[in-house]
Amino acid sequence: MAPDNRVALCPGTFDPVTYGHLDVISRASAMYDTVIVAVVNLPWRKGNTLFTAEERIGFLTNATSALPNIEIETFSSLLVEFARERRAMAIVKGLRAISDFEYELEMNQLNRRQAPEIESVYLMASPKYSFLRSSGVKELATFGGEIDDLVPDEVARHLKDRLGR
Ligand code: PNS
Repeated sequence: MAPDNRVALCPGTFDPVTYGHLDVISRASAMYDTVIVAVVNLPWRKGNTLFTAEERIGFLTNATSALPNIEIETFSSLLVEFARERRAMAIVKGLRAISDFEYELEMNQLNRRQAPEIESVYLMASPKYSFLRSSGVKELATFGGEIDDLVPDEVARHLKDRLGR
């Protein structure tokens, strides 16, 4: 079945969700009728995640509760296969820096080869989130750094519980 141009996917590991992710998700939600937040659930990929898929989904569900057109699902296949299953026309991602560009260009070429009918759409990160990534937040939490303005309150509490020294 042909992709539906009203449906977009926002994919990621979201370990955990940050305000940078939420910025991209909320902007995508204003652009498409339905935005499916696609949470990677591959335990063996990039080492283990700090939070389980259920926990990551819980944080995302609470953080996006004010947005009317968000669905949150896990996937454990190729991203473009999941996009096809959901008939998503677009994969929406945030771009922060040149380093993201190089990685995303490579992903884009691979994904395009697999599924030329699905477009990737890149939103430039809002300046205040340009250097925000989940791994950096986890490192800050480990060493008692200030994370309250980087992640939702619920996420900050869990990070401090799990990683704080
Ligand atoms: O940086 P993230 O959040 O871990 O990125 C996850 C994702 C799925 C957006 C990224 O790995 C990607 O674009 N993958 C495309 C290739 C693919 O389909 N891999 C299999 C699922 S990870």
